Amino acid sequence: MASISTRCAFLFFKRCQIARGRQTLNVARRKMSIKILDIGTPIVALSDARRFISDCMVAVGTPREYGDILAENLIEADYRGHYSHGMNRLDMYVRDVQGGLCDPKAAPCIIKETPATAWVNGNNGLGAVVGIYCMDLAIEKAKKSGIGMVVVKESNHYGIAGKYSLQAMEQGLLGMSFTNTSPLMAPTRAKGSALGTNPLSLGAPAANGDSFVLDMATTAVAVGKIEIQKRKHEPIPEGWAQDESGNITMDAHVAYDAKRLMPLGGPELNSGYKGYGLGVLVEIFCGMLGGSAYGPNIRKWGDSSKKADLGQCFIAIDPGCFAPGFPERLSDFMGFLRNMEPADPAKPVLVPGDPERLHMASVDEAGGVRYVQDQLDTCKSLAESLKVKPLIPT
Ligand SMILES: NC(=O)c1ccc[n+]([C@@H]2O[C@H](COP(=O)([O-])OP(=O)(O)OC[C@H]3O[C@@H](n4cnc5c(N)ncnc54)[C@H](O)[C@@H]3O)[C@@H](O)[C@H]2O)c1
Repeated sequence: MASISTRCAFLFFKRCQIARGRQTLNVARRKMSIKILDIGTPIVALSDARRFISDCMVAVGTPREYGDILAENLIEADYRGHYSHGMNRLDMYVRDVQGGLCDPKAAPCIIKETPATAWVNGNNGLGAVVGIYCMDLAIEKAKKSGIGMVVVKESNHYGIAGKYSLQAMEQGLLGMSFTNTSPLMAPTRAKGSALGTNPLSLGAPAANGDSFVLDMATTAVAVGKIEIQKRKHEPIPEGWAQDESGNITMDAHVAYDAKRLMPLGGPELNSGYKGYGLGVLVEIFCGMLGGSAYGPNIRKWGDSSKKADLGQCFIAIDPGCFAPGFPERLSDFMGFLRNMEPADPAKPVLVPGDPERLHMASVDEAGGVRYVQDQLDTCKSLAESLKVKPLIPT
C-alpha cells in the first residue's frame, strides 16, 4: 500500500511540476512539511509504528494476521495525514478488546447474497478486518457484475473510510465506503446529538496512477481532530462544535465533553443542514440497510459498557461498464481544476486526495511521522502495561 501511495505522490508531483512550475508546488510542499516537521518529537519510521500497533493488539489476544491488518489501517491514516485515525485510536481498540466489547479473533460471514450484493455479519470483529473483507467481496462482485455492494452489521470502528476506497481503486475500480458512528453530531436546530460523524468516501482511478479520493466526515471535522487539539492543548476553530447549551465553542475540552459536533457547513446560515442531510444519507446506507444500531441507539462515544454494533457499506464499481475513457477524462478534469489560477498564489488549487498525497511525500522525505508528546506518552504507557517493546527505545 505504502509503495503504491508513494508512486501516486511521485506521479502527482511530477505532473504538477510540469503543469504549474516548481515554485508553486514547493510552497504547498513546504506548508505540508511544516505540519509534521515542526513539533520537535523524534521521527518514527512507519514500519516501527506498524510493529508497535500489531504487538499491542497481539498482547491483548489478537491473531498476528489481524493485528497486522489493523496496524496497516492505522498507519495508512497517519501516513495520509489523518492523525485522528492512526496511532491516536490504538488505546481505544486495546480497551475495547480488553473490556470484551470487541472480539479480536472474530471473522465476518455472509448472511445473504445476490450476484451484486451481500449482507454480512461482522460478528463483532475488528472493524479493519471486517472492512477489508467486505470490500474484497464488493470487488469480487463488481468484477463479475459491474457493481458490488456489501452492507455489514455488528462491526466496530473501521478507521479512515478512504482505506476501503483505495482498496477498490487498486483493482481499477471506483470504491465507496460509509460507516455510522457514535452519536456526536447535533442536527441543525437541535441542542443534543443524534447522528455520528458518519464519514463517506469515493475513490476513483484516473490515468497514470493519479486518482480522486474524497474521504470526509459529514460533521465539520472528525471528532479525532478535536482529540488532537486536546492533546496539543490548543483551541478548535469556530464552527466545529457546540457546548452543552448549544452555543458554538472553541474550547477543545468543552467540545469533546459536550459531544455536539456541528454538521459539515456549521450553523444553518452556512447550510449546515446539508452536512446533516449527508449524515442521514450515510446512516441509510449503513444502519438502515444493515440492521445494525443506528443514530442515537449507537453506544455513546467513549462508552465502555456496550458493544458498538456499527453498520457499514462498501461499494465497488467497474468504470468499464460505462463510457470508454473514464480514467483519461477524470485526469483531464482534475488537471483543469489543479491548473486553475488560485485566489492566493501561495495556495494552489487542489483536488480531494491531493492534501494526503502532499502529506505522504513529506513523510517519505522525513523518513517517518512525528507524534505529539501526549501521543508518545500514551504509547509509552501502553508499552509498559502490555509489556511490549516500546515505540521509541528508552
Ligand atoms: N471511522 C470513523 O468513525 C470516522 C468518523 C469520521 C471521520 N473519519 C475519518 O477521518 C478522516 C478525516 O476526516 P475529515 O472530514 O476531518 O477530513 P478533512 O477535512 O481533512 O478532508 C476531507 C476531504 O477533503 C479533501 N481536501 C482537504 N483540503 C482540500 C482542498 N484544499 N481542496 C480539495 N480537497 C481538499 C481531502 O483530500 C479529503 O478528501 C477521514 O479519513 C475520515 O474517513 C472516520
